Amino acid sequence: MRLSIVTALLVGSSLAAPHHEKGLSLNTLAQRRGKLWFGTAADIPHTAETTDTAYLDILKKQFGEMTPANALKFLFTEPEQNKFNFSDGDYFMDLARHTGKSVRCHNLVWATQVSDFVTTGNWTAETLIPVMRNHIFKTVKHFGDRCYSWDVVNEAFNSDGSFSSSIWYDTIGEEYVYLAFKFAQQALKEVHANKVKLYYNDYGIESPGPKVDAVLKLVKELRKRHIRIDGVGLEAHFMVGGTPSLADQVATQKAFIKADLDVAMTELDIRFAQEPFYTAEAQRQQAQDYYVSVSSCLLSGRRCVGVVVWDFYDKYSWVPYSFEGQGGATLFNDTLEAKPAYYAVADALMGKPCSVC
Ligand SMILES: *[C@@H]1O[C@H](CO)[C@@H](O)[C@H](O)[C@H]1NC(C)=O
Ligand SMILES: *[C@@H]1O[C@H](CO)[C@@H](O)[C@H](O)[C@H]1NC(C)=O
Ligand SMILES: *[C@@H]1O[C@H](CO)[C@@H](O)[C@H](O)[C@H]1NC(C)=O
Repeated sequence: MRLSIVTALLVGSSLAAPHHEKGLSLNTLAQRRGKLWFGTAADIPHTAETTDTAYLDILKKQFGEMTPANALKFLFTEPEQNKFNFSDGDYFMDLARHTGKSVRCHNLVWATQVSDFVTTGNWTAETLIPVMRNHIFKTVKHFGDRCYSWDVVNEAFNSDGSFSSSIWYDTIGEEYVYLAFKFAQQALKEVHANKVKLYYNDYGIESPGPKVDAVLKLVKELRKRHIRIDGVGLEAHFMVGGTPSLADQVATQKAFIKADLDVAMTELDIRFAQEPFYTAEAQRQQAQDYYVSVSSCLLSGRRCVGVVVWDFYDKYSWVPYSFEGQGGATLFNDTLEAKPAYYAVADALMGKPCSVC
């Protein structure tokens, strides 16, 4: 009796919990299936998210992991050469600790959101490598074992599998990737945080193709050099109706797992190319795509360690800011109500047929 009252309260609240399982959160449902967590990115601090209590309530109740959307990126952690500022990162970490969440730390070396002193410098490999090393050492040592994992290198490849242009690649060559992982490993050792996992993270590696082959080749090369890599992050920024099939997603995850890697879906969102975002038919197709994507991590087995969505509220999604006219990509609509996609994810986590697809 008491339990059913609690259940009724939960279902009726802004928690917007699935009806079928006593209001269990997505994170609890994921953990019941052996996953570490079901997580979300959050762009905190300095944004509306930071003080939106309805948003924060759902963040706290539904998710077991949070990824800083921006706070740990190079331009915020080292705005000027060797002048580090970890105040945003520490704020994020404190919120995670107080709410009992794991953090996938994101990221150390990437082409984008790098400080001006790096992108405008007149570097040679000999002068840039120490800059990269200093950034990795100071940042990794500061956060230590507060990170579950680090995305050491982010988005290093073009879709054809060649290395993509960046200040790092253009100056140092592909060696920058091996050095970045080596430095991260060494820095963790100095602070006795060897358990922190080292990841390569990218988009467009959720279905078979040359980019997946390039990542597998990179892993082989790291291992040949006795440099540690623990996992590959599959960003999973998909389009409604264009989401890779269940078979393709499972095959790709299993290819990484076969190479003795963990995998995680690290930035899942499924956007509409254009309006309408909220018709019944649009929502049904999106729910189907979320159902397939989350199911793939369950079907791939234990070494798909979890799923992270790239924020959960359409109002705070990065999509409309980055792709004009596109949007509607997350699990909660623009009045912060759970969409069919939310219930589809819950169904997938429970191993049930999709009730809203
Ligand atoms: C560090 O960053 C915070 C937040 O962006 C800012 O308020 C603060 O002034 C910075 N600290 C220094 C020493 O620049
Ligand atoms: C860049 O550095 C090289 C080698 O140190 C030097 O020869 C060249 O003049 C520099 N170019 C500029 C624009 O400063
Ligand atoms: C958001 O979802 C709620 C509950 O399903 C619904 O009443 C509202 O109309 C939705 N908002 C939009 C913009 O569709």
